[in-house]
Amino acid sequence: MKIAVLPGDGIGTEIVAEAVKVLKVLNLPLEMETALVGGAAYDAHGHPLPESTLKLAKASDAILFGAVGDWKYDKLDRPLRPEQAILGLRKNLGLFANFRPAICYEQLVSASSLKPELIAGLDILIIRELTGDIYFGQPRGKRVATDGHFPGAEEAFDTMRYSKPEIERIAHVAFQAARKRNKKVTSVDKANVLETFQFWKDVVTEVHAQYPDVELQHMYVDNAAMQLVKAPKAFDVVVTGNMFSDILSDEASMLTGSIGMLPSASLNSKNQGLYEPSHGSAPDIYELCAARGLEVIDATCPLVSKVHAEVRRYAGKGATVLLVGHEDHDEVIGTTGEAPDRIHVVSHPDEVDKLDLPDPSKVAYLTQTTLSVDDTREVIEALRRRFPRIVGPS
Ligand code: IPM
Ligand code: MG
Repeated sequence: MKIAVLPGDGIGTEIVAEAVKVLKVLNLPLEMETALVGGAAYDAHGHPLPESTLKLAKASDAILFGAVGDWKYDKLDRPLRPEQAILGLRKNLGLFANFRPAICYEQLVSASSLKPELIAGLDILIIRELTGDIYFGQPRGKRVATDGHFPGAEEAFDTMRYSKPEIERIAHVAFQAARKRNKKVTSVDKANVLETFQFWKDVVTEVHAQYPDVELQHMYVDNAAMQLVKAPKAFDVVVTGNMFSDILSDEASMLTGSIGMLPSASLNSKNQGLYEPSHGSAPDIYELCAARGLEVIDATCPLVSKVHAEVRRYAGKGATVLLVGHEDHDEVIGTTGEAPDRIHVVSHPDEVDKLDLPDPSKVAYLTQTTLSVDDTREVIEALRRRFPRIVGPS
C-alpha cells in the first residue's frame, strides 16, 4: 500500500512526523513517499500544489496530510495561496465524502467549554460533501453590478449549486454510515430560503426511500448550530453541504474539547482517501511543542485498518507506543490502537524504569500538551536513556 505523506505547513509538519513514526513502528507493508504541499511547496516550486505532488497523490492508495497555510501567504493571489492545495487535491481526486467524527473521550470532558453531562460519551459523525457547493460553484468572481441595491458598484459573487447525483451519492454515504451506527441521519439544509437546499432536502428524502431502517430528520442549519451545543448527543450522523459542514464541524470540535482532537477522512468513489486533522496549520503555536498529535494519529487509523491483518500480526510481535503526558490520556490513545496493551502513558521520569515492555527495541513515543514543556523534556530524556533506539521527536 502506497501512502503519499504531505506534511504541509506549520503544525502540520510536527504532527505528521509523529504519525509517520507510529506507522513505521507498526512495521506494516507501507511504502511512504513525502512531498511538499501548501506554503512550503509555493516557496520551493512557486505553486501550492505542484504537478509532482498531485501526481504522487493520484498514484497513492492514501494521502496522509498535515495542514496548510500561514499568514505570510495571505497577500498572494488566491490560486497561489496554500489553501488551494487542499481544495485542489479534493477536486482532482474527487474526494467528495468527508468523514468528520466528533468523539468526546471521557478523560477530556473537562477540556470542553460545555457542561460535562452534555458531552460525556458523545460520538457523532459529520459527513461533509466536499467537492461541490459554493466552494467550487461557477461562476464566481468580481464585476461591476448591473442590478441589486447598488447598480454600477463593484461587487463579488460566488455560486451555490448542487447537482442531483452529487447529493445522491453523499446521501448514500450518510445512510450507509448510519446503518453501522445508531441508524439516524440528520440532513441539514436551509430549505426555507435557498433553492439549492430545498433541492438537497428533496433529493435526500428520495434516497431515504432505499433505507427504511434508518431514521431521517431534516434540520435548518441555524437550528442545527444551536442544537449542536444544546443537545449534541441527540445526533448520530449529520450530513450536509460543503459550506455548512465546514462551519458545523468546527463547532462540533469544541464538543470534544478542542479542534486539535478532530480527525478527518476524505474518500472518493475508488475508496482512495486523504487523512488529515480537521484543524489548520496553527501558525500561532507552531514550534511551541503544543501539537497534540492525537487527531492525526486518529486520522491515521483508517489507513491502519486497511491493513488490519498485518496490524494484528504485528501486535503479536510487540511494538510499544509510549505517550508522554498525563495519565488520564491512557484510554484516549488506547482507543486508537489495534493493540491497546501496547500503549503506555508516562507522566514522570521515575516511571520510565518501571516500564515492563515485551520488546524494548521496538519503542516509539508521542508527546501531549498535558505536561509542562520541562516535565515532558525530563520524561523524554529518561526514555532515551533507557531505550537508546526509541523513535521520537528530535
Ligand atoms: C477545512 C478547512 C478548509 C475548508 C480550508 C483550509 C480550505 O477549513 O478542511 O475545514 O474550508 O474546507
Ligand atoms: Mg474548516
